[in-house]
Amino acid sequence: MRVTRVQLRDFRRFHETALEPGPGLNLLLGSNGAGKTSVLEALHLMAYGRSFRGRVRDGLVRDGADALEVFVQWEQADGVGVTGLRRAGLRHAGDSWTGRLDGQDVAQLGELCAALAVVTFEPGSHALISGAADNRRRFMDWGLFHVEQEFLGPWRRYARALRQRNALLKSGGGNAQLDAWDHELSEAGEALTAHREAYLAQLEPQVLDTARQLSDSLQLQGLEFQPGWRRSELSLADALLLGRERDRALGYTGVGPHRADWRLGFVGLPGRDALSRGQTKLAAMAMLMAQARDFARRRGHWPVMALDDLPSELDRGHQQRVLAFLAGQPGVQILVTATETPPAVESIQGLAMSVFHVEQGSIAPLDGVPGPGGGA
Ligand SMILES: Nc1ncnc2c1ncn2[C@@H]1O[C@H](COP(=O)(O)OP(=O)(O)OP(=O)(O)O)[C@@H](O)[C@H]1O
Ligand SMILES: [Mg+2]
Repeated sequence: MRVTRVQLRDFRRFHETALEPGPGLNLLLGSNGAGKTSVLEALHLMAYGRSFRGRVRDGLVRDGADALEVFVQWEQADGVGVTGLRRAGLRHAGDSWTGRLDGQDVAQLGELCAALAVVTFEPGSHALISGAADNRRRFMDWGLFHVEQEFLGPWRRYARALRQRNALLKSGGGNAQLDAWDHELSEAGEALTAHREAYLAQLEPQVLDTARQLSDSLQLQGLEFQPGWRRSELSLADALLLGRERDRALGYTGVGPHRADWRLGFVGLPGRDALSRGQTKLAAMAMLMAQARDFARRRGHWPVMALDDLPSELDRGHQQRVLAFLAGQPGVQILVTATETPPAVESIQGLAMSVFHVEQGSIAPLDGVPGPGGGA
C-alpha cells in the first residue's frame, strides 16, 4: 500500500493542507506543536476509526470549526500485478460521521478501516505491552480483521450477545432469557477465540524473529494467549453458567473473550514490569512490526508504516535497526516524524526518501534532507 495523498481540513491546527508522500521513507520535520503528529493521526483515524490520542470529540476538530475532513488516496497492488488507485474520505461533525470509499457512501466506518491498512508506532505505543488489556485485544483483532475473513461474523455476534446479556443482568432478567444469550455468546465466543488463538500461535515465531532483528537487548521467550476464561478446564458455556450469580450481582459478564489478553515472556525476566521503559517500547515495536510483516505475507503488500517521533522514542542504534529492517522489505512505505533529521536516516540504504517541512498549519516538500540538527 502506498499513500499518494493525505488531505486535511479543519483537523487540529490545520485549516486546509495536503501531503503527497513518495515511495519509501517520508520524513516529516518541524518544531514542537507544528502539526507533525496530527498528520499521522489523520491517517490513523481513517484506518482505525479512532485516534491514538484520546477521544475524537476531545479536540480533533479545529477550534472554531464545525467538522473535520480527512481524505486519503492510495495505490494498492491487487496481487496479480495490477495497481489500483483507491480513495477514502471521512467527515466528522460533533457526534456524526460520514464516510466515502472510492466514490460511494459507506454504511459503516469499518469499511474504511478494512480498506486502508496503517500500522502506527507512537509515544503511547508502550501501552500495548504495559497498558490495559483492551490495547492488546484491539491488536489481535486488527490483525484478524485484515487477514481472516471469517473473523468479523463471530466478533459482531459476540459483541451483540454480550450487550444483550449485560442488559439482562442489570435488569434482573430470567434464567430462560439468560440461557438463550449464553448459548449465543458461547457459540460466537468459542469461534472468535479459536481465531485469536490460531492468529497468535502463527504470529509468535514472527514476533521472536522480528525482535531478534530489532534488538539485542530484548530477548523474547514466547507469546502466550489468555482466552478470557479458564478454557483448559471449562467450555465457555460452562464458565458463563458458573459465573451467572456473580454476574447478576456485578451487573455485567465477568468472564469470556471480552476479557482476553496476551503476554510476552522475556528471557531472564520475571515479566513485563521488569522491562525498562525503552525495552517496553522495543517490545511494542517488535509486536507491531511482526504484525505488519504477517499482514504483508498474507495480503501480498505492506501496510503503511507510521512512526511518530521515532528519535525521541528509541536510541540511535535501535532507530537504525528499525529503519534497516523496514528498508529490507519490498514496497514498504514509511512515514517518520521528528523535530530534526534523525541521524539513523543517514545510514539507511536502498530506500527512496522524501522530506517535508511542517509548520504553522502547512506542509511543504523540501528538496533535500537537512543534516542532523537541521530541519526544524
Ligand atoms: N482542536 C484544535 N484546534 C486548533 N489547534 C489544535 C487543536 N488540537 C491541537 N491543536 C494544536 O495543533 C498542534 C498539534 O500538534 P501536533 O501534536 O501534531 O504537533 P507535533 O508537530 O507533533 O509536535 P511535537 O513535536 O511536540 O510532537 C498543536 O500546536 C496544538 O496546540
Ligand atoms: Mg508530535
